[in-house]
Amino acid sequence: MNVKDKVIVITGGAGGLGSVMGSHLYKEGAIVCLLDLDENKGPEVARGISDDGRVSFYKIDLTSEEEWKNVIGAIMDKYGKIDVLVNNAGINIRKPVEEMSFEEWNTMMKVNTGSTFLGVKSVLPIMKEQKGGAIINTSSVCGLIGHKYTPEAYTAAKGAVTMFTKAIASRYGSFGVRCNSIHPSTVMTPLVEKMLQDPERAAERLGEVPLGRLASADDVANAVVYLASEEASFINGISMPIDGGVTCY
Ligand SMILES: NC(=O)c1ccc[n+]([C@@H]2O[C@H](COP(=O)([O-])OP(=O)(O)OC[C@H]3O[C@@H](n4cnc5c(N)ncnc54)[C@H](O)[C@@H]3O)[C@@H](O)[C@H]2O)c1
Repeated sequence: MNVKDKVIVITGGAGGLGSVMGSHLYKEGAIVCLLDLDENKGPEVARGISDDGRVSFYKIDLTSEEEWKNVIGAIMDKYGKIDVLVNNAGINIRKPVEEMSFEEWNTMMKVNTGSTFLGVKSVLPIMKEQKGGAIINTSSVCGLIGHKYTPEAYTAAKGAVTMFTKAIASRYGSFGVRCNSIHPSTVMTPLVEKMLQDPERAAERLGEVPLGRLASADDVANAVVYLASEEASFINGISMPIDGGVTCY
């Protein structure tokens, strides 16, 4: 897949999926900017991918518009372009709706959906000016179905990401900006590690996958490489499941 010399910004870049996306994209020839709140893990992940100057870490709270402005400004000063934004960071407060406070609901919306809004808002003027760019939003299988094992707030937040993606794709396609979402099923990362330690939860998650295994971070990263690449130049507004068939029934 051709992503050579594309400047690619990945949020949640210190996390389980973001770090593997960064590594795959780097190996395919991209220049990678990893954005994350975790300033201990972030630089370590960046160095682990490469220390040749083509992978950088930027500390950011993705819910702050001010911090988005600063980080995107710094990336533009350094590279002069942003070809791809992967809005990938996310959190999950594992409580059903009856136990969740309104404050927790708002936090779920702010981080999962609000950070995606701010990311898109930050790069759109740049991509319009460039007359090209690609945005990939990490939703979830929960952005496609009312997944009964998952907190409703997570499902609502990821559903919003799904439709926000399509709305951006339809309005900004004429400026050469593509926007697609990806919908992974359960992948073993820090986000789900604790939940999967419960054998009952682990069996539920495995049992729902027709292909009979959990997704891997590589499965997800391969899809991101494709959607970021030249080969996907006519792919706009899709919701791509990476789920072994979980959303088929
Ligand atoms: N792991 C799964 O099973 C799974 C399945 C479907 C979708 N997803 C989605 O994939 C994305 C990545 O998840 P992951 O599994 O890699 O999780 P993770 O917890 O390993 O990584 C998430 C990263 O986001 C960062 N982050 C969170 N809030 C932030 C903020 N306000 N500012 C800056 N950084 C912040 C964290 O520091 C962390 O490094 C998320 O959107 C998640 O909802 C994950």
